[in-house]
Amino acid sequence: MSDDSYISIQNVQKYFGSFCAIENISMDIAHGEFFSLLGASGCGKTTLLRMLAGFESPTKGEIFIDNQPMSDVPPHYRPVNMVFQSYAIFPHLNVHDNIAYGLRKRKLPKAKVTEMVDEMLNLISLPDYGNRKANELSGGQRQRIALARALILRPKVLLLDEPLGALDKQLREQMQLELRQLQRTVGITFVFVTHDQEEAMTLSDRIAVMADGEVMQLDTPIGLYERPVNRKVASFIGTMNFFDGVVADEAGETLKIEAQGLGPITAPANPSNKAGFYKGDKVQVAIRPEKLVLSAQKPDAAFAASGRVQNMAYLGERSHYLIEMDGLDKHVAVSSQNLVPGASLFEMGSDVWINWQSDAVVVLERN
Ligand SMILES: Nc1ncnc2c1ncn2[C@@H]1O[C@H](COP(=O)(O)OP(=O)(O)OP(=O)(O)O)[C@@H](O)[C@H]1O
Ligand SMILES: [Mg+2]
Repeated sequence: MSDDSYISIQNVQKYFGSFCAIENISMDIAHGEFFSLLGASGCGKTTLLRMLAGFESPTKGEIFIDNQPMSDVPPHYRPVNMVFQSYAIFPHLNVHDNIAYGLRKRKLPKAKVTEMVDEMLNLISLPDYGNRKANELSGGQRQRIALARALILRPKVLLLDEPLGALDKQLREQMQLELRQLQRTVGITFVFVTHDQEEAMTLSDRIAVMADGEVMQLDTPIGLYERPVNRKVASFIGTMNFFDGVVADEAGETLKIEAQGLGPITAPANPSNKAGFYKGDKVQVAIRPEKLVLSAQKPDAAFAASGRVQNMAYLGERSHYLIEMDGLDKHVAVSSQNLVPGASLFEMGSDVWINWQSDAVVVLERN
């Protein structure tokens, strides 16, 4: 357990009958951290969150919160509150009473409760909705009420299971900013579940990328994007070009690789990848589309290859290209920023060069 660990998940496993939903997860979450669980549907995100909340018990392992083992602590005695994936609010209560619900045991003066509820209604951009009945709300509005109801209790840890899933894009982005702002000001530890990688990147200090009940990589947004540990993570976060390659030589921090379609290249040994690569190893070379630079003439660059524009899309601030290259059976994606207005774009069918820096290359195991 590290020093600033507030939540410590140690060797946690979860079986439902003979089905293993969580394989064997260990990780620490720091106090005040905005921590996200990211992964495809069914990978175990909700299950892990429910074990933190105490609605499920681990089959094996232990969860510590604030150094206390949680196995014998029922949900309502844990310093956590959960916002559920399907917005659970009481249909027979109005909005004000829904938000104030958790406060009722605290015996606060009525005026104080109203003040706190109004503050929350402002925060979720529903200032005049206090008297509305819950069944007179849209899905997105209900989701926001559920969020307000959890936040008003100012828990030490807030567990959020896709809390913005039902909101439209604009409201979702606004709520993301507000959530982050709120989390910074009150210093609550957030454990946030999403299957939206952009949302996870926008909000999180660190992200655990999950697949099939396991954590594939736990890292900062930058670490996940720049130094993915495997192909799954690399293609789950953003877009990535992959090329088959063979290690020709290894010299300390630098690998020489013979890569299909690119020729002989060099790359930094991937520090996130524990495997280590040796001469003769079959690898995958990965390069992000925005790290490839296009030019009409042969560039004066250490690493370059030629091809033809097979497809292009102009998106305003950037253009996306698919480049057809000799010796490659798939197209290479290139994303270039349109920095200069009216600057020449590359036409369909035109001959082009791509070039890149050695440190743009990520080397991964081939499997
Ligand atoms: N009570 C249960 N009994 C049996 N299997 C379950 C139970 N709860 C979850 N599972 C299974 O465990 C796996 C993980 O489920 P979980 O709800 O944690 O996924 P998730 O990552 O939250 O997915 P989603 O993004 O769709 O919400 C799934 O295969 C699911 O079918
Ligand atoms: Mg879920």
